[in-house]
Amino acid sequence: MTQASAPGKAILFGEHAVVYDQPAIAVPLSDLRTTVIIRSIDVQPPSVHVVATDLDHSFWLHEMDDRDPLAYAIRLTLQATMPELQESFEISVSSKIPIASGLGSGAAASVAIIRALTSFFKVDLSDASISALAYRVEKLHHGTPSGIDNSTIAFEQALYYKRDQDPQPFSLGRPLQLVLGHCGVDSQTGAVVADVRDRWQASMEEYSAIFSQIGELVERGYDNLKAGDHKQVGILMNENHALLQRIGVSNQALDQLVARACTSGAYGAKLSGAGAGGFMIALVGTETRDSVARALQDAGARHILVVQVSG
Ligand code: PMV
Repeated sequence: MTQASAPGKAILFGEHAVVYDQPAIAVPLSDLRTTVIIRSIDVQPPSVHVVATDLDHSFWLHEMDDRDPLAYAIRLTLQATMPELQESFEISVSSKIPIASGLGSGAAASVAIIRALTSFFKVDLSDASISALAYRVEKLHHGTPSGIDNSTIAFEQALYYKRDQDPQPFSLGRPLQLVLGHCGVDSQTGAVVADVRDRWQASMEEYSAIFSQIGELVERGYDNLKAGDHKQVGILMNENHALLQRIGVSNQALDQLVARACTSGAYGAKLSGAGAGGFMIALVGTETRDSVARALQDAGARHILVVQVSG
């Protein structure tokens, strides 16, 4: 039996603008993981069976085409490591990362599958190569991914990220305590990114100016995260949320949760990921963590997660 896992991720600053070449910052959520287990099975000819427990989805690889992201991740990895299948095995995928919520569940599944298969075949792939394979699957989910999800998840470190540049891992000055609240609406990253593209094309000057403002916030956020100044980080998160509202990717439920987090003691809060649904994140201190989580619950959050991001 071979087992591997990969974390979820949260974008602290810069989503959407990162698609337009601005920097962004994301952190891995190491307590929330997708786990993949591979077991040999006695089947001839050599075949691969896939079971995704949480998705209620199982299939034989040879019967599934590449539009299925799990099948595509497996096939890409087999091409890179073991083009000629010699034995049969079953791949089980299970996940604690809520799907369609902005926490990188798709990229985590790809990275965990790639890690499990390379370990099963005793092939060494660098984090950068794993990230590059996972990026190809991300492209299937939505046409123009920036690459921040697969990078943060494959490197499992806080990253300063800019499209088409090597990701820059960095150390947080202090661990982050985050409370995440789901607004009750699912979010499809590809559709939200495409809508932003349409609006950008219609109002290019306005949108480009907002993306640049987000880029400036990212730079300041980066300095303050490294310095461990969470009060400043919180203020910048609020400003980033306001700019995300202006590009039309927030909704009433997210805005309400963000406002409630701030009035109940968070340093700051914002939507995270594609938006138009999914989770918001609030940066809290140990002393405000419980009150913020309670306030989000009272405000009707569908799902609340309390996580620590170290290093
Ligand atoms: O919703 P998520 O977790 O897939 O995050 C999307 C982040 C975007 O910046 C909106 C898109 C991207 O590819 O960077």
